[in-house]
Amino acid sequence: MAKNEKAGSDLVASTSVNSSVELGTAVVAPDSFENPGFPAHRERVTDLNPKKMKRAERAVYVLFYLSIVGSLFAIFAYMFFPIEDGDTTSIRLNTLFIGLGITLSLLALGIAAVHWGKAVMADKEGVDHRHPVRGNDETRARAVEIFKEADEESGFSRRTLIRNGLIAAIVAFPLPAIALFRGLAPMNVDPNNQMKYTMWKKGLRLTQDPTGTPIKASDLTIGSAFQVIPEGLVDLPEKEMLNAKAKAAVLLVRLKPEDLKWADPQREAWSYQGIVAYSKICTHVGCPVALYEQQTHHLLCPCHQSQFDITEQAKVIFGPAARPLPQLPITVDAEGYLVATSDFTEPVGPSFWERSK
Ligand code: FES
Repeated sequence: MAKNEKAGSDLVASTSVNSSVELGTAVVAPDSFENPGFPAHRERVTDLNPKKMKRAERAVYVLFYLSIVGSLFAIFAYMFFPIEDGDTTSIRLNTLFIGLGITLSLLALGIAAVHWGKAVMADKEGVDHRHPVRGNDETRARAVEIFKEADEESGFSRRTLIRNGLIAAIVAFPLPAIALFRGLAPMNVDPNNQMKYTMWKKGLRLTQDPTGTPIKASDLTIGSAFQVIPEGLVDLPEKEMLNAKAKAAVLLVRLKPEDLKWADPQREAWSYQGIVAYSKICTHVGCPVALYEQQTHHLLCPCHQSQFDITEQAKVIFGPAARPLPQLPITVDAEGYLVATSDFTEPVGPSFWERSK
């Protein structure tokens, strides 16, 4: 009870004090602390001793040149320690030496920049006052002066070895990336053509994946689906076979001919008695579209759930894929085996820059 009375009397007292302050007047308390200003300036050893300044300068440009050595080392490592097929030691050596080269390049560049700033550039504190963003002529002239001062203090124009070292190191640093990107495309081959054509050609039989057994039209009952590869693919060397299969894989399905709807009537001739062949490579980002739903005749890509309707020229009915699956034109040969009548008439798989449609 006594406590409540004291709190009440405090409230009255504070109300009477506040009543002396005009409404709308801000009360600004004086700063609790004095502005301590800058601490006493301590000269660096490089400011006091010209020999040490010279040594720091030398260290900076040596580091820049070391960075160049790192970049070149990465390029040489790429050339002289290539990755050989099936040789894990070559992969280890290739990544180790390229990594070491790039590490040296970046590390030396970073240390040189920090050392330049801390030991060689002018060391003084200054205060920049806020000012309107748009400067007047006087301000602009002052800006030019500041740039000149900065140039003078950093020695960017005067210390040519450092400046040139920095420029050369920055130019050399991205070079390993060029070499690495070149390695993405095989030598003496137009990468554009690589993506436009597959192994399929006129007269090549459709064979079962992975056995390579040719398929007769009579082998397919209505509703059945086959994973298909081109004839002769299984006889290729392993690496070539995998590359060719990644583009030429096909899904073969037989439906009742009357269930197929042809928006483009010419495409009907690409099928044989209800048997149709579509690329298995998703037009979104290239996963194998291998889940066939027999009742709905829909093909599902498990990666991002794009769905294609086999009855309507494999058009996209759901998901992120932008284009229908390319159709492989087929017929049968004299022995009744299913054969392609040409390659796909458009590139398979995801879009790429040079793709014309
Ligand atoms: S790869 Fe097929 S939906 Fe994305």
